[in-house]
Amino acid sequence: MADGGMIGVYPQVFVVDTQAPCGPLPVPVYPRRGGWRHRLLFALVGLALLGVLIEACCIYNLHRGHGETSLAEKIISNEIAEIKPERKPAVLLKGSQPPETKDNVLLWTQEGDGFRHQMDYKDGLLTVRKEGYYFLYSKVAISDIHCILVKHTIMRISERYGDGKTPMELMQSVRYHCPKPLKGDRQDKQETQDVTSSYLGGAFHLFTNDSVFVKLEGGQIRTGQKENFFGAFLL
Ligand SMILES: *[C@@H]1O[C@H](CO)[C@@H](O)[C@H](O)[C@H]1NC(C)=O
Repeated sequence: MADGGMIGVYPQVFVVDTQAPCGPLPVPVYPRRGGWRHRLLFALVGLALLGVLIEACCIYNLHRGHGETSLAEKIISNEIAEIKPERKPAVLLKGSQPPETKDNVLLWTQEGDGFRHQMDYKDGLLTVRKEGYYFLYSKVAISDIHCILVKHTIMRISERYGDGKTPMELMQSVRYHCPKPLKGDRQDKQETQDVTSSYLGGAFHLFTNDSVFVKLEGGQIRTGQKENFFGAFLL
């Protein structure tokens, strides 16, 4: 600010953002002589010009700023698009409690940490919406007090093969399991039943509308969501 004695001689000083990409603002030159009306007039005209220039500068910056923002937004959204690719079909189903079967076909639930994305599930059958190579996996825990032959299979029904209704085996695990006799005084107790597990996992080319399911023959499936599961994901 000009000091008191100089008011009217020099225009008041305005602080302009030096970061703004404007050229130096022309400072109007005022005649030292002449009536105070002239000086006032010049001062007012100067201020008006200064105002117009500042406004022009601000508008320019505003527009430039908007351009940069939208560019930045574009870059960010592109990055997000790269980081978050389109989610592929993926499923994890858990064994229902108590375990349920229908004609040896295991039935599943989506409870707990189970999930289902872009695949259909109904009555034990997981159906593919999008053709591709899928990794299929299933684990079951079996317990019995007798020696048992357990057959754990992942089956497929495809319109592309045979009559389109007959299930085909994709993966199979067969094992003969005998509970180990317990030693000593525990031998006569019911706890002689013990547990065995079967895991299947592999990749297959599946077509749209193909269904896959898990079949278990022989042995009793053991209760437990963590112990029994079935899932698939597109590779
Ligand atoms: C899948 O099944 C649906 C319903 O049955 C049918 O409309 C569709 O055409 C089938 N898609 C293919 C590729 O077979």
